Amino acid sequence: MPGLVIVGAQWGDEGKGKVTDLLAERADAIVRFQGGNNAGHTIVRDGEEFKFHLIPSGILYPDKACVIGNGVVLDPRILLGEIDGLRRRGVDMSNLKISANAHLIMPYHVLLDTAGEVKLGKLSLGTTRRGIGPCYADKALRLGIRVQDLLDEKILRTKIRVALEPKQQALRELGVQRRKLRKEAGEGDREAAEQAIEDAPDPRLDLHTMTEEHVSFGHRLEPHIADTSRLCWDVLDAGRTVIFEGAQATLLDLDHGTYPFVTSSNPIAGAATIGAGIGPADIDEVWGVAKAYATRVGAGPFPTELSDDQGRHMLERGHEYGTTTGRERRCGWMDLVALRYAVRLNRMTSLAITKLDVLSGIGPLKVAVRYRSREGATLDTFPYHQSILHSAEPEYEELPGFDAEIEECRNADDLPNEARAYLDYIADFAGVPIRLVGVGPGREQVVWLD
Ligand code: IMP
Repeated sequence: MPGLVIVGAQWGDEGKGKVTDLLAERADAIVRFQGGNNAGHTIVRDGEEFKFHLIPSGILYPDKACVIGNGVVLDPRILLGEIDGLRRRGVDMSNLKISANAHLIMPYHVLLDTAGEVKLGKLSLGTTRRGIGPCYADKALRLGIRVQDLLDEKILRTKIRVALEPKQQALRELGVQRRKLRKEAGEGDREAAEQAIEDAPDPRLDLHTMTEEHVSFGHRLEPHIADTSRLCWDVLDAGRTVIFEGAQATLLDLDHGTYPFVTSSNPIAGAATIGAGIGPADIDEVWGVAKAYATRVGAGPFPTELSDDQGRHMLERGHEYGTTTGRERRCGWMDLVALRYAVRLNRMTSLAITKLDVLSGIGPLKVAVRYRSREGATLDTFPYHQSILHSAEPEYEELPGFDAEIEECRNADDLPNEARAYLDYIADFAGVPIRLVGVGPGREQVVWLD
């Protein structure tokens, strides 16, 4: 399996970190190829919990290259915080490599993300407010600051100056500074606040401070900065394995997800080529990770969403709270129409199904096998028209549930017949084999099939 891509098959938070961690045992390099610290994954190793936002899960293996690819947008402050935190816990960080071409999330991106969401009000997307969208927008506008820019103060200062000007204007228009300063001056003292806007710009947006701070980030990150595409080629050309680890998921893809309720990058398998700098022929396998049910954070269509006790059961039993923002996740039944779409879009070769244990005790189990449009039409495939998806009603197949606790199961034969039938149904419908099943949060709580 020299080139293996791992992608989320639903709306994110499927447990990709754990699957990557398990498969990483057989790999030589693990590469993140998109997204930023909007992602978050938790890995439990020997009873110890590790939470990552930017650093690929492979970092816990001292002998593997762990790469942040060019397609990632990284907030240097967050990254350095993660590096320091892991070092304090005794993790060797020397194998962390960061692409010189990755773009930086700057303080103004974070402010713009929040200001944009506030401005949208009821129409907001529910972003993680980590500056992801504005950073990718600057990349496309060619106003981005890249990791390599941290190494040259003169270039850095010029680039920040050019990028900063329009942001200050936009933020002023969005009223962020105004509101902040009004609050500081006391709600009633409007005049003083208006005056203060002119006199006291947000210190986070000061060119000099920002440049100095980022030069110091550069000094600290320098030992990790590398030509990461070449690193991938060297490993692949030697016939050894590279895992390309996607963040977010297929239905949050900027082009193929439920736009505009998506992230600003492409989490699908094809994007690994661009975000890591490899060719399509370097990809040999694509593993999709799906929960045994479905969740979504933030706004956007979610046909199988539940607002009843069964949804509550999934939320509580599955601890469905965001790793990054702590928000409650919306929960619902497995959507096989959406899964089949994700399987084809990514050309998946295998599936990993996580959190099957969460479904114990809530049978009969339902899986959506088609949608019904508002006009009564049957939809067997994922509709390309967003309005249709928004009002689509799922039609379910009911499968027998299981009451036994399955956390201790380690072989297919240990699983209750109903659980195996549920997995078989999913694999048949999706048209790809399920190779791995998660039955609890621990690393060892898996059943390998096949
Ligand atoms: P952004 O990526 O912060 O711009 O957020 C855009 C949308 O993607 C929002 O609905 C977020 O909740 C969602 N999102 C971003 N990252 C993740 C993730 O790692 N898991 C689940 N949802 C995510």
